[in-house]
Amino acid sequence: MTGLKASAKQAALEQILIPARIVPVLTIDRLEDAVPLARALVAGGVNVLEVTFRTEVAAEAAKAIIAGVPNAIVGIGTVLNGDDLHRAQALGARFAVSPGATPELLDAAAASALPLLPGIATASELMQAQARGFGLLKFFPAEQAGGIPMLRALAGPFPATRFCPTGGVNAGNVATWLAEPNVVAAGGSWLCPASDIKSGNWEIITGRCIDAMRTLRKK
Ligand code: 3PG
Repeated sequence: MTGLKASAKQAALEQILIPARIVPVLTIDRLEDAVPLARALVAGGVNVLEVTFRTEVAAEAAKAIIAGVPNAIVGIGTVLNGDDLHRAQALGARFAVSPGATPELLDAAAASALPLLPGIATASELMQAQARGFGLLKFFPAEQAGGIPMLRALAGPFPATRFCPTGGVNAGNVATWLAEPNVVAAGGSWLCPASDIKSGNWEIITGRCIDAMRTLRKK
């Protein structure tokens, strides 16, 4: 696979994340939940979805959403290594997300055409990603790793780096995160908690998305 220029991949990722503003992180245990869940999110105005590689059915679930919910823009999360990245690309994902930024994964992503949003929680991890051309990063786990004060501290030495915080983001704090000048979008599982997926509470999930998007539009 020929790698695209880092700047082109970053631009592609920005075009997905900036208008989305919020990216639900999906952990799908039952394949039959995949399409109704994605439809519920899209019906609520949330169309960029991160399907995590955390369950046995994750790859099939992503495939089902890509085939069955054309308005969804599907990324693959919990990408841990080059093999995961290649699997994500083969599924037809539009982007990949990782919780961390190992040199092995960053090198694989630099050589791949699939845009990666690598996770960082420290200045050194950020520098490793930056050295390979990654300027748009996931800040993970955002609340636990220091929250907004940590992000503001990183903005000092790294003013050009932009972030998608994930981890501990919820309905109560998402607008505050998105108000930070170096935050382009925020991710998390709060829109579709495991209990609602298990119970098939699709209308509740849609309603939560509508409320979230309405609140963000007012800001
Ligand atoms: C994750 O990878 O689990 C995400 O960061 C979601 O975190 P959250 O459940 O705190 O939103």
